Amino acid sequence: MSRHVVCPAAELPPGTRKVVVIDGREIGLFNVEGRLHALLNRCPHGGAAICSGVVTGLSQSSGPGDYRLERRGEFLRCPWHGWEFDMATGQSWCDPRRTRVRSFEVRRETGGDLVMGPYVAERYHVTVEDTYIVVDL
Ligand code: FES
Repeated sequence: MSRHVVCPAAELPPGTRKVVVIDGREIGLFNVEGRLHALLNRCPHGGAAICSGVVTGLSQSSGPGDYRLERRGEFLRCPWHGWEFDMATGQSWCDPRRTRVRSFEVRRETGGDLVMGPYVAERYHVTVEDTYIVVDL
């Protein structure tokens, strides 16, 4: 597993998505109410660019005339044939035993955790002589 820094967290605020290319693979990043998801941008059913689909919930019903949308923001609906996938696991709601969209670990890290410090800048000796500033290189 290799770690890739893809963008500042500010570029992916809640309610947005972004498709990036990592090692030649298109990966969709989603921020759903602060929860991050990363999915391969290829539907396992027919190959659609699934990350352009609608983020939705799960329609539930106990009978005619009773419809509820539950687990809002936890599912991604493919734009081609409407299959829905659990964004946290990639699992298909239509064919959960055999079909899932590939999902990846995604998280926020502080800049200090990404690269080890301390950092050392190149420095030069500076003196003040009368009204001139002199820099020794
Ligand atoms: S290609 Fe995605 S549901 Fe068919």
